[in-house]
Amino acid sequence: MDLAYRPRRLRRTPALRAMVREHQLSAADFIYPLFVHEGVSNEHIGAMPGAQRWSLNGLLEEVSRAWDLGVRCVVLFPKIADGLKTEDGSECFNEGGLIPRAIRRVKEEIPGMAVMTDVALDPYSCDGHDGIVSAEGIVLNDETVEILCRQAVAQARAGADLIGPSDMMDGRVAAIREALDDEGFSHVGIISYTAKYASAYYGPFREALDSAPRAEAGKPIPKDKSTYQMDPANGRESLTEALLDEQEGADIMMVKPGLAYLDIIHRLRGETELPIAAYNVSGEYAMVKAAAERGWIDERAVVLETLLSFKRAGADLILTYHACDAAGWLRQG
Ligand code: PBG
Repeated sequence: MDLAYRPRRLRRTPALRAMVREHQLSAADFIYPLFVHEGVSNEHIGAMPGAQRWSLNGLLEEVSRAWDLGVRCVVLFPKIADGLKTEDGSECFNEGGLIPRAIRRVKEEIPGMAVMTDVALDPYSCDGHDGIVSAEGIVLNDETVEILCRQAVAQARAGADLIGPSDMMDGRVAAIREALDDEGFSHVGIISYTAKYASAYYGPFREALDSAPRAEAGKPIPKDKSTYQMDPANGRESLTEALLDEQEGADIMMVKPGLAYLDIIHRLRGETELPIAAYNVSGEYAMVKAAAERGWIDERAVVLETLLSFKRAGADLILTYHACDAAGWLRQG
């Protein structure tokens, strides 16, 4: 054939392929989500093989392992005892609570590790919602934001580097920014869950934290989070959220879940110069693990290909439970 252009020329050898490769994964791109509880031993999580609810000591070991593999940021999620859960989730701003203690310990033991937090009420709420649920079953916005601000300040005071509001209340980024600044934490950043969808992919995470919405006698509790998390059918709406977050002072924007929402990452990439993070959520992790356990897929290849797809879509950072495995594989080359 008489072809002027043969794309295969640049695919012929590993050296040529490496020269024209557009995206690279690096351990420094990863944010490693970790679950912590009050127990003295680590507990396996059924739907998330390989992940654990760490004791405080176990957490420190896992964070140093991640550090040694080149991971430079962790995000901490608490499993809170039922007895501490209330309607307003006020345990979330207890400065002696599990998360502030965990942050302090991580910062003492591995001071270089960036620590990100989650801001939302669900692990602390007896109703299992990210906000306060009224007697009529409405998730209250402005009342919730006041509590979220106190939660963010407690986390900043413990030493958090990045505050991650995952609650999807309106106006929370601006309110948290102001609260942090007022308390002397203008150096603490906000990584906003900008486009967070009402997704079925969060199931294993809710099992890990025992944080799913739950009905209580005498109060109508919404069974899902669709009055605050976004409708999976909506793409344009993510741009509205992005515009607001940027105006309100977010430092990094996040899209969540990641894999089923690569188009959203790509759209935001075209609209903002801020760094974008993709959250490779618990359900995505569980699917890969389940298929790999059965020998149906090659776990290493599938994970690295998936993580690369986030970067190709336009993400700079990736929250992933595969962080340590992937960092290890990248080292082996
Ligand atoms: C809580 C929160 C959730 C996740 C992160 N923060 C669950 C939810 O919104 O119900 C999900 C993470 C995952 O599935 O890996 N606000």
